[in-house]
Amino acid sequence: MPLSDPAAKIRLAGASKRFPVRDGELEALQPTDLAVRPQEFVALVGPSGCGKSTILNLAAGLLRPTDGAVFYDEQPVTTLNRAVGYMTQKDTLLPWRHAADNIRIALELRCRAVPRGEAAARVAQIIELIGLKGFEQHFPAQLSGGMRKRVALARTLIYEPETLLMDEPFGALDAQLKLLLLDQLQSLTALRRMTVVFVTHDLGEAITLADRVIVFSARPGRIRAIREIDLPRPRDVFKVRFTEHFARLHEELWDELKDEVVKGTDV
Ligand SMILES: Nc1ncnc2c1ncn2[C@@H]1O[C@H](COP(=O)(O)OP(=O)(O)OP(=O)(O)O)[C@@H](O)[C@H]1O
Ligand SMILES: [Mg+2]
Repeated sequence: MPLSDPAAKIRLAGASKRFPVRDGELEALQPTDLAVRPQEFVALVGPSGCGKSTILNLAAGLLRPTDGAVFYDEQPVTTLNRAVGYMTQKDTLLPWRHAADNIRIALELRCRAVPRGEAAARVAQIIELIGLKGFEQHFPAQLSGGMRKRVALARTLIYEPETLLMDEPFGALDAQLKLLLLDQLQSLTALRRMTVVFVTHDLGEAITLADRVIVFSARPGRIRAIREIDLPRPRDVFKVRFTEHFARLHEELWDELKDEVVKGTDV
């Protein structure tokens, strides 16, 4: 990998992560080289514990690599990376604020200059987009798991970050709703020319959305396979999975992934 790569939005250069644990160190991620291109949609798949969330945390500046370095726009990431919107694996909605307030607070924290009226309009618009109209005044405890995920998504999108980090954002949703949201995510990220790193357990979801799918080995994670997804765009998220091309990609990637999933369950 070159020392500098102007074509990379996010770049891991020999980045590894070992966590101190009671009886020594736990190696979560082996030294990894990975460059995500501007406006690229990259999906990370791999067995539980292989370091997927760790990679997002490194890109967001929430963690420092043990070896190597992480760059954003070729600048080393050394503090919280404000250019990214991060939808974490656990939702972090504030229980004492209703849905609309949970979304608005994200906008206020990131973009202090947005006038009140405009903020309210943007919140209303995004609530409509994610299909939560009528639930604005509901508190997180009064929402279903899927609804909470959608509020968290809206909160990440509202301040229009140029890069999205998403950690299994739709894991808990029913299949139909998941497809609807994948469709909206595809349109929105294309429209706003966003760069996206998307972690999922669902290989079908990864192939449906991504320009590249990256398969990780079982822990300690390393890149096992990289596959360009050459399905034409825009993709019909409802139908693309029934095409022969999709089936071939799925089979090929599943062959890589299944060995690792088996290894991952041994630990
Ligand atoms: N702060 C921490 N301290 C110690 N170990 C950690 C810490 N964070 C993560 N780990 C360990 O590092 C490994 C990788 O964790 P990570 O959360 O990145 O996995 P993952 O691929 O996202 O898994 P999943 O699919 O289950 O979400 C796991 O074994 C985890 O237990
Ligand atoms: Mg994770």
